Amino acid sequence: MKIVGMDAVSKFYNGERALDNVSLEIEEGERIVILGPSGCGKTTILRLIAGFIAPDTGAISIAGELVSRDGRIFTPPERRNLGMVFQDLALWPHLSVKGNIEFGLKARGIPREERKRKIREVLDLVGMAGYADRKPAELSGGQQQRVALARALVLEPRALLMDEPLSSLDLELNIRLRKEILRLQEKLGFTMVYVTHDRDEAADMATRVVSMKQGRIEV
Ligand SMILES: Nc1ncnc2c1ncn2[C@@H]1O[C@H](COP(=O)(O)OP(=O)(O)O)[C@@H](O)[C@H]1O
Ligand SMILES: [Mg+2]
Repeated sequence: MKIVGMDAVSKFYNGERALDNVSLEIEEGERIVILGPSGCGKTTILRLIAGFIAPDTGAISIAGELVSRDGRIFTPPERRNLGMVFQDLALWPHLSVKGNIEFGLKARGIPREERKRKIREVLDLVGMAGYADRKPAELSGGQQQRVALARALVLEPRALLMDEPLSSLDLELNIRLRKEILRLQEKLGFTMVYVTHDRDEAADMATRVVSMKQGRIEV
C-alpha cells in the first residue's frame, strides 16, 4: 500500500521557492532516505507530510486519503497518525522521560493502566528502562535520542518521519544508533522517512535513497 503520495508539490517561503514540483511516492514498510545538502528542502518535505504546513500548489495524500492541496489542509497533524523525530528532538524539558512519552497517550485518551504498560514496553524496546523519572537534561545525547524515538513509537504511527535525528551525535554514537534504529524498524516494521545530508548514513539506513538539490528531486 502507498502510505504517502506527494503530487507536483511546490512550496514558497516569502516568495522564495523552497520546493519545486516535487512528486514522491512512499510504500508501506520501506525505509526511504531523503538525501541532500542543507537548505535543499528536506525539512520542508517532512513538515508537509506531517501536516504542519500546506503545499502552495500540488496535493498530498496519506494512505489514499487527500490530506492537503493547493494551500489548504484537510487533515491536521494529529489525525495523520504519523510519528516525528525532530532534528533538535524537541523533548519537553520540564517533563520526565515518562511524562514526555505519556503526553501523546493522554491526548489520545488511553487509560492510565494501559499508558503505564505501553511506557514500560517502549522504554524496554529502546533500552531505557530505569530512566523513566529522569529529566531530559539529566540524559546524554544518545539517551535523549532514544527517548525521542520512544515518544514517537509509543503511538504506533503508520510512518515515522525522522529529521537528521543523529546529526548532533559524534560518529561512533551515530553509527551505533543507526544500527539500533534499523533493529527497531525490522522488529516493528514501520515505514521510515529519514532525512540526512550524509551519504554514508543514507546508504546505511535506506531501502531507497532519494537525492535532492535546490528544492528538486534529482533523477
Ligand atoms: N520558515 C521559513 N521561512 C523562510 N524560509 C524558510 C523557512 N523554512 C525554510 N526556509 C527556506 O527554505 C529552503 C529549504 O529549507 P529546509 O526545508 O529547511 O531545507 P533543509 O532541511 O534541506 O536544510 C531554505 O532555503 C530555507 O532557508
Ligand atoms: Mg532541515
